Amino acid sequence: MGNRLEGKVALVLGAGTLGSEGGLSNGAAVALNFARQGAKVVAADLRLDLAEATSAAIRAEGFSSIAAQADASNSADVKQLIDRALAEYGRIDIHHNNVGIEQLGGPVETEEDAWDRVHAVNVKSVFLTCKHVIPVMEKQGGGSIINVSSTASIRWSGTPFLAYNSSKAAVNQVTRIVARQYAHKQIRCNAIIPGYMDTPHIRTLWRDLSPAEFEAKMAERNAKCPMGRQGTSQDVANAAVFLASDESSYITGNLLVVDGGWTI
Ligand SMILES: NC(=O)c1ccc[n+]([C@@H]2O[C@H](COP(=O)([O-])OP(=O)(O)OC[C@H]3O[C@@H](n4cnc5c(N)ncnc54)[C@H](O)[C@@H]3O)[C@@H](O)[C@H]2O)c1
Repeated sequence: MGNRLEGKVALVLGAGTLGSEGGLSNGAAVALNFARQGAKVVAADLRLDLAEATSAAIRAEGFSSIAAQADASNSADVKQLIDRALAEYGRIDIHHNNVGIEQLGGPVETEEDAWDRVHAVNVKSVFLTCKHVIPVMEKQGGGSIINVSSTASIRWSGTPFLAYNSSKAAVNQVTRIVARQYAHKQIRCNAIIPGYMDTPHIRTLWRDLSPAEFEAKMAERNAKCPMGRQGTSQDVANAAVFLASDESSYITGNLLVVDGGWTI
């Protein structure tokens, strides 16, 4: 508990936990940590049930939150979501874009529609949220936009995820260009670049493996990380709270790597 985000309103898009195996997703952990630091939180997701679960967890701790459904790749949905947040809480100080989907494959294996879908969900979503939230932040005199990227945007990870790799690289540049254009308006825009993370999404991908195979996969991921462990959604949430708070008021256009040293 704390007051680092006291008086602020936060919108977290992609606030659900998609996987069923163990703990909170990056988005849900961010939403919960924003609330624990005093922010009122709109938890939004493509799936209302997942948004509701995160919002209910926040309210169960005694904090203020509403859930909302929105497809981050759809302009009308994003606009409606922002209007809903304003109607409920009157302002938006923090917009956190957590939405992201992946697609295995290089140029030969990736189908065109898969490429388009990954880019729509991962990059167009960031463009659309900036498009609709920036005018709100301009009127308020500032705000903080946080985009979740990936180390897949800046280096080869051993397996091609070309659509994902390129979409996250685009997220980085959208972040920097928006940061530069709106710096004089006190609208900050930063990205978090997680490395190997132990999240429910990842665990659920491997739920059909035998326990021994599962442990071997996790050990392999842990061993790749210089600290000997993968990151957690709490590590991402800690970075997000910092970027959302006034402690980072002179930090914009930053791509904050949260990878335990993996990309060094
Ligand atoms: N887990 C890792 O190892 C890792 C590493 C690097 C980066 N990331 C990034 O972290 C983010 C997600 O992590 P997570 O743990 O929260 O995963 P998650 O899959 O549990 O959560 C993502 C949420 O986004 C929602 N979503 C998907 N498409 C949407 C859309 N079109 N509109 C609105 N919501 C939509 C899903 O329903 C889900 O609830 C992604 O941006 C991902 O690229 C994860």
